[in-house]
Amino acid sequence: MKIFLDTADVQKIKDWAKMGVINGVTTNPSHLARAGGDPTKVVKEICSILKGGEISVEVTKDEPKDVYKQAQEIADLAPNILVKVPCHKKYYAIIKQLVAEKIKLNITLVFTPLQALMMAKLGVDYVSPFVGRWNDIDVDGIAMLEEINHIMEIYGFKTQVLAASIRTVRDFHDSVMIGCDAVTLPVSVFEKSLESPLTDKGIAKFNADWKKLGITKFP
Ligand code: G3P
Repeated sequence: MKIFLDTADVQKIKDWAKMGVINGVTTNPSHLARAGGDPTKVVKEICSILKGGEISVEVTKDEPKDVYKQAQEIADLAPNILVKVPCHKKYYAIIKQLVAEKIKLNITLVFTPLQALMMAKLGVDYVSPFVGRWNDIDVDGIAMLEEINHIMEIYGFKTQVLAASIRTVRDFHDSVMIGCDAVTLPVSVFEKSLESPLTDKGIAKFNADWKKLGITKFP
């Protein structure tokens, strides 16, 4: 189960890269706009922070021929880049070509199981179903994710399922239980998922009991 941070916040990525549980980062144009500065530099810096990880970087062009060229340019920025291309039928032909060129792809803005099926047939590395944007309009995003994961399993596709647009710790938990290959988390959701008041309470109790002994050297 891979865990990616859904951000382009370089400082947060640096902080969490040291901790050992993060497998990569997913950026998108909104994240890079928020990060400010030169997006090429930001992307390169993220790629160098997590050299052994997978860094998703999205195309920003619209016309298929421009997206194709930009995808190649993005892929050339670093060896650990996955190019994010939106799941639209106008891009099928270029997705097929990019797969043939061994460019690693993470297909974004996936909202239906059948969209995911088509991408798996094209042989992409990842599909990113957007859980939260379905939940926002009162449609069960987790159910959609579960169906996509089921399709990959029953037909034996190599395409990995990357749960995206995760808004809550519950969505994260459900994605893990479904058995997705990966999940990308906003830093706030990731950090919240690591906490338990019972752990804090337990540490405080052990510390208090230990202090009562008055021992300063142990072992
Ligand atoms: O990068 C894709 C993604 O996770 C977007 O999330 O919260 O904008 O729906 P959100």
